[in-house]
Amino acid sequence: MNADRQTQILAIDPQAIDLVLVQRAAEVLRRGGLVAFPTETVYGLGAAALQPDAVGRIFEAKGRPQSNPLIVHVASVDAARALVTHWPDAAARLAERFWPGPLTMVLPRASCVPDVVTAGGPTVALRLPSHPVARALLDALHDPVAAPSANRSSRISPTRGEHVIRDLDGRVDLILDAGPAPGGIESTVVDLTDSPVRLLRPGLITPELLRSVVGEVQIDPAAHREGVERSPGRHGRHYAPRARVECLERGAGERIGRLASAGLRVAALIRRAEPAVVDVVCACEVLPSDPAGYAAGLYAALHDIDAAGPDVIVIELPPDEEAWLAVRDRLLRAARTD
Ligand code: TXA
Ligand code: MG
Repeated sequence: MNADRQTQILAIDPQAIDLVLVQRAAEVLRRGGLVAFPTETVYGLGAAALQPDAVGRIFEAKGRPQSNPLIVHVASVDAARALVTHWPDAAARLAERFWPGPLTMVLPRASCVPDVVTAGGPTVALRLPSHPVARALLDALHDPVAAPSANRSSRISPTRGEHVIRDLDGRVDLILDAGPAPGGIESTVVDLTDSPVRLLRPGLITPELLRSVVGEVQIDPAAHREGVERSPGRHGRHYAPRARVECLERGAGERIGRLASAGLRVAALIRRAEPAVVDVVCACEVLPSDPAGYAAGLYAALHDIDAAGPDVIVIELPPDEEAWLAVRDRLLRAARTD
């Protein structure tokens, strides 16, 4: 698709929501248009989920393969239940504990869900977001909204309105800009179609939290079912800056020094600023030492680093521990070259 739309940007205060703006956004969705909106994780690129043509525009705007299904955002548990054929006990308990919030549940789809949403598959991914602007939009539309992250396919997810504009200007009808998305990385995705519950994408709801509600959780996302991949969006390079990315368990400082003395423009993503690093890089982002704080700043840091135009980005990985699973997943996938 050519970048041929006029993108309208509406600033909206999440603490004092102007419902006139929300109604305008809902009207765009109702007419089959695309609206980028904030959630508590990242910004989403929304279309009315029950309108197949509108959903098709999401794939065009992102350059996303049609084989990668979308998350459907709902306003209530009842709205979620209307989109599935079965609402298992685990879904009820997880919804009770984590909805509204950054948890996506994969369940058997009802026939009202268009094929384009599920990539023709037998399941649908559902999420009830907690961000007040997302909730107001869903309430105003009275219908579910299909929304992937509002970035071009395989690139860094947006946590601010300006990230959406950078990637999708002219490809989205309207952006509701409510400032930073607080969580910073995408929702946790779990498959509830059999037992035990399977983690398809780590996120802000950690395995430990999931286990506290459903007991056993299968963590390995690489499993296949009858030859059909369970999590089609989970392979290849993702969350990727333009520059080459190197992730190191340790020794980032030395590596940065070597690359810089070889004449490369090097950027660094680290957790402790050291003069030996700061003095030789073209951009340096220092993120907090707790997983939630790190996640909240991660994509904004990658966007800023990328804008400095480095040849290579060196990332010092946080510890290989379960609490860091989601962050390490995003970092390692940003570094992949396939
Ligand atoms: O936090 C989030 O989840 C954000 C906000 C906007 O809600 N959305 C988001 O969407 O990250 P997206 O499209 O970037 O990632 C959705 C992930 C993909 O890996 C996709 O393959 C997977 O969920 N997915 C969607 N439907 C699925 C299904 N029926 N079965 C298995 N995986 C599914
Ligand atoms: Mg995405």
